[in-house]
Order: sequence, then C-alpha cells, then structure tokens
Amino acid sequence: MSDSTLSPSGAAGEFALPVIPQKRNLVTELPGPRSRELAARRDAAVASGVSSLMPVFAARAGGGIVVDVDGNHLIDLGSGIAVTTVGHAVPAVVAGVQQQVAEFSHTCFTITPYEGYVAVCEALNRLTPGDFEKRSALFNSGAEAVENAVKIARRATGRDAVVVFDHAYHGRTNLTMAMTAKNMPYKDGFGPFAGEVFRAPMSYPLRDPLGTDGTAAAARAISDIESQVGANRVACLVIEPIQGEGGFIEPAPGFVPALAAWCAANDVLFVADEVQSGFARTGHFFAVEHEGVVPDLVITAKGIAGGMPLSAVTGRAPIMDAAHAGGIGGTYTGNPVSCAAALAAIETIEYEGLVDAGGRLGERLRAFLLGLQQRFPQIAEVRGRGAMQAIELCEPGTLTPDAALAARVARYCHRNGVITLTCGTFGNVIRLLPPVTIGEELLDDALAVLAEAFSAETA
Ligand SMILES: Cc1ncc(COP(=O)(O)O)c(C=O)c1O
Repeated sequence: MSDSTLSPSGAAGEFALPVIPQKRNLVTELPGPRSRELAARRDAAVASGVSSLMPVFAARAGGGIVVDVDGNHLIDLGSGIAVTTVGHAVPAVVAGVQQQVAEFSHTCFTITPYEGYVAVCEALNRLTPGDFEKRSALFNSGAEAVENAVKIARRATGRDAVVVFDHAYHGRTNLTMAMTAKNMPYKDGFGPFAGEVFRAPMSYPLRDPLGTDGTAAAARAISDIESQVGANRVACLVIEPIQGEGGFIEPAPGFVPALAAWCAANDVLFVADEVQSGFARTGHFFAVEHEGVVPDLVITAKGIAGGMPLSAVTGRAPIMDAAHAGGIGGTYTGNPVSCAAALAAIETIEYEGLVDAGGRLGERLRAFLLGLQQRFPQIAEVRGRGAMQAIELCEPGTLTPDAALAARVARYCHRNGVITLTCGTFGNVIRLLPPVTIGEELLDDALAVLAEAFSAETA
C-alpha cells in the first residue's frame, strides 16, 4: 500500500471512502478535548469492567491509520488485536459489506441459508492445512468457535477431557475461561469454571531450560497428561501454535509436531487455535504450517473478516460431521455481512500476496527489534513470526519481569500517536501486530517512536 494515501476511489461503489493520508499527525495533545468529553460520557454509561487501553476515541480508520475524534492520525501497530490484518477500510471489504447489507443483512443460516456462508466454508476448507475432505462451521467470536471445537471433539471421540497449556488464552466465556491460564483480569471472581479442562506445561524457551528442547518439553507435557488425565480420556488437545495474550510465546521447534504425533497415536484430536496467529499474520496462512503440522481441527477468527465479527471451526469431514443436526449453530453465526467481508478479505490476501507480505514485514520488524535489544538490555528476548513480533522486558541481566517498563513504553507510544499493545502472563511483553499492508515509511515512523520511548523511559 502507498504511504501517501489510502485511495479507494470507485471500489466502494456509490459510497466514496474518505482518503486517509498514511502519515502520523497529532493536532492536539492526546487525549484531545473531544476524546476527553467522550471519556466522561463513557465513564457514566459503560460498565467499568469493559476497559480501553487508550483514552482516545476513534472516528475513522484507513490502511494503517486510525483517526481520532479530534483529528489526530495515529499509527496502528495493533490492528484491533490482530483483526485488520489486511488494513483498515480496505476497498474490497467495504464494497463487499455495503453490497451485502443492501441485499440482506440477516436471514439466519439455520432458517434460510445463503451462498456467502457456503463460499466462506469452501475457502476455509481449501486454505487450512491438509489434503483430506473437510467441513467448516461458522460462528461469531473466537471464544464461541473454541467452545464449538470442543463440543465437536467431544461428540466425535465420545471423551470428555480437554488439554490446554500454561499461558494459554482461549477466550472469556465459561468454558474458555477454564481453558485460559491467566487469572487477572480474565478469570478472577468469575468462577466456578467448566470442568474436565487440564493444563499441561508449555515450552517457553526464555524461562524454562527444558523449554528450549521442543521434543523434551513435549515429552514432559505428554507424561503429565498420561499420568494426570489418561490418554484414553482426552477428547482434544487445544494449542495456540504461537501463544497470543500469553506473551507471543513461540514454543521450541519440535514441540508442536511431537504433541500432534502423540495425539494421532492416541486418537486425541489435535486442535490449533489460530484465532490470533492465523490468516496471513505470520508469513504463512496459518502459524501451524511453520512446522508442517496438520491439525484435525483449526479454529479461526479475528483476521478472517477484515474487522467484521466472524469465526470458524474447520476440520476433517468425519469429525466435523459427528455433531448431530441442530447441535451446533446460533442466531447470528456466519452472518451474511461478515461472510461478504471474509470473502473480500480472503480475496485481498490471495490477490495482493499478503501472506508473503507478512513474512517480509516480519523480517523488517525483527531486524529493528534485534537492533533495539542491542541498545536496551531490558529487552530479554525478541520473538514471534511474521507480523506477530514481541519483546519481553526484564530487569537487565535477570528474568525478573518488568511490567512497569512495558506499560511506560506503551503509554509513551500512545501519547505520541502510535497504538502499541502489551501482553504476557507477567504483563511485560510489548507486541507488534501491524496490518500486513502497512507502508514502509509509516512503519519506520512508528518504530522510531518505539525507540524514543525506550530512550525516554529507561533514562
Ligand atoms: C488465541 C485466541 N483464542 C481465542 C480468543 C478469543 O477470541 P474472541 O475475543 O473473539 O472471543 C483470542 C482472543 O484474543 C485468542 O487470541
């Protein structure tokens, strides 16, 4: 994408999109006066359990820029948590949504079906790893898709137990809270949680000596599962190939393949939660492809529909078809407008070569972050794949997490017009998830702000 403008003319039909210059531009302090007014209204109207990272209110967005209500142009290094991977307001997505909403916005697929749903399932069956016959089912959110993957796995295997990992994040519904590792803020006071969920040790190379050997770390996890659960009780093992909220933890090579092999040998379904790592984010369509693993079920959401809510479970036909008719579904699942957005996002990814673009962007990000690590000993590790990169911050020379520094660096970026997210079990990871279409100049400007933030906040 050009660095100068997002130029959508004509592509969105009758409705011309505003042209948003791809340049950071602050015209007020952040938050500006209009954002402050809205924040006061928000505090009086919105439940405080729903927090926002930044105190600025969005008015519009295009490409890699979010424009706030005061007219400030912010660079988006978060993509709404890995959602607008193709960029904000991509013309094809806007056009697809506009056309679909004008035709019909809802009939309920379980009442009168429509082609868009079928076409998204066909695309997912084609794009997910594995040459076998597949089926897909669509849902609204990532958590809802995770829940349904578990339902399908239980029905297909006739077993109850679900294995997840340390540092995992799978959502905020009751079952997915049980599957998520971190207590605060996701679980605290919200229990009791769903049963039959068991947690195995992850491979976390920075923090765990055994974690640096993927095969040994997998053997440890398998030994725990066999002794504490019993292989014959396990319906599925659910894993993020690169953990998202847990801190962009990239397990050591061999960990994921060894777990997949154990699953295959024990009739346990191997389920890849690709909600954050999937859809052209990491230099492959799906992160699990980096190690050639073919899951039984793949869970997708976020980047699938360019900003519209949609999620899916895709997998081997006999497994997916194990659920009885009417056993899975929902009023809004596979909404036609979201399906139109997904088809446009998928077409954009394929037509524009965005899988490779994510890989190239990753090299650029990684080179920058490794350079930053040379200058700042607080950066204990640079990790991630493609356009999913992170730095873990610790007190220099130790593994003591420095969450305060991560928060200060992120706040500095926010004050200076760069949307930067943190994550991690210990809250000490800064993660970069830009749209894979972000222009080079825009990215360089954002990274310069990140470097300034380190200089300012470590001085
Ligand atoms: C790996 C993973 N799984 C599941 C979810 C839950 O998705 P949602 O927030 O759409 O329910 C997320 C959200 O961040 C995620 O990163």
